Amino acid sequence: MSNTPSHKQRVLSGMRPTGLLHLGHYHGVLKNWVEMQHNYECFFFVADWHALTTHYETPDNISLHVEDMAIDWLAAGIDPKLATVFTQSHVPQHAELHLLLSMITPLGWLERVPTYKDQQEKLKERDLATYGFLGYPLLQSADILIYKADLVPVGEDQVAHIELTREVARRFNHLYGRETGFEEKAEQAISKMGKKDAKRYRDLRRQYQEKGDAEALAAGHALLEAQHNVSADDRERLLGYLEGSGKIILPEPQAALTKASRMPGLDGQKMSKSYNNTLSLRETPANVEKKIRTMPTDTNRVRRTDPGDPARCPVWQFHEVYSDDKTKQWVQEGCRSAGIGCIDCKQPVIAAVQAELAPIQQRAAEFEADRTRVRDILREGAEAARKVAAATMAEVMSAARFTHY
Ligand code: TRP
Ligand code: SF4
Repeated sequence: MSNTPSHKQRVLSGMRPTGLLHLGHYHGVLKNWVEMQHNYECFFFVADWHALTTHYETPDNISLHVEDMAIDWLAAGIDPKLATVFTQSHVPQHAELHLLLSMITPLGWLERVPTYKDQQEKLKERDLATYGFLGYPLLQSADILIYKADLVPVGEDQVAHIELTREVARRFNHLYGRETGFEEKAEQAISKMGKKDAKRYRDLRRQYQEKGDAEALAAGHALLEAQHNVSADDRERLLGYLEGSGKIILPEPQAALTKASRMPGLDGQKMSKSYNNTLSLRETPANVEKKIRTMPTDTNRVRRTDPGDPARCPVWQFHEVYSDDKTKQWVQEGCRSAGIGCIDCKQPVIAAVQAELAPIQQRAAEFEADRTRVRDILREGAEAARKVAAATMAEVMSAARFTHY
């Protein structure tokens, strides 16, 4: 086997531009992306089409938020030299592939996705009985498959969407994976292997296909691995021909589950805009102080002299995210003995959040002052993304027997 380093795995993820990002996004998603950009080939995009599925009545807000969100990403440490950053609608192939996939996706698959009914329930005030909203997860599948992504970092709530993506890819490959002339092309590829190996390949293929001999299949894989004169395309054909399937055009991605964010909201529930309990990444130091000072604490501590229990207090959850062991011990002892007051207790948290946000806000201010640069980054990102997406789309269209591809 050759020792050439294998390609970096490709990572893709997106976020809907629904407003300013907060610490929940930072701890739950962005820090993870920032880390991944060093180890993977990363594509991160602003999902403006997806925002339209739920906010089609207020398109002005979406376009305002697209750039702001890109600024938040860049401020949080996404580096356009390491990752491809772009806006979904700037790469029309997402929409094209979505349309093609819609032809082969059974309605029931979409109706059964749990977020479909959940979100309709949750967002009762909006009319989400639309074609586009039903197709939300399929558009997400197109986002992923158009880049042939290996890994998709998402939270728990999105796992069903990745599962759908895998099923749709499998169905596509099954329906269209047999390119025209597949058998002839596979036969031609066999002849490129040399007489001896070609005969062995044919024997192993027969043994596997006639008797289901797993050892023959394994030997066939090993034989293909060892071929040096076979192109990557031919190798895939030979694999498919060996196994009796077609050619894999859209590979199935994996979900890379992000650990549930430990970032609580100001009231102790999950931090979320809909709970109105967030600290945004652009929160001024004065606001950080005000919001944390007015956070609820253990309700048993009515007076300063009443002892409390950190387990019953949202401020303690912040200490778990931000404080070292010594500070945490100081909180535990001081709270239980009424040795410290809640305002004392909040002080190190205020300082830690302010310190975390300071460099992010510094960078955000630089990008705010130079929006042309932000637009350039998004434009260059879209150019790079379109190259990859167009190559996949050409393959997909010719597999689906459209002409001139
Ligand atoms: N649905 C995702 C969310 O709400 C956003 C998204 C759109 C996405 N397209 C994607 C995430 C593709 C990962 C991959 O968070
Ligand atoms: Fe919460 Fe700290 Fe007050 Fe205890 S002392 S109730 S942990 S804020």
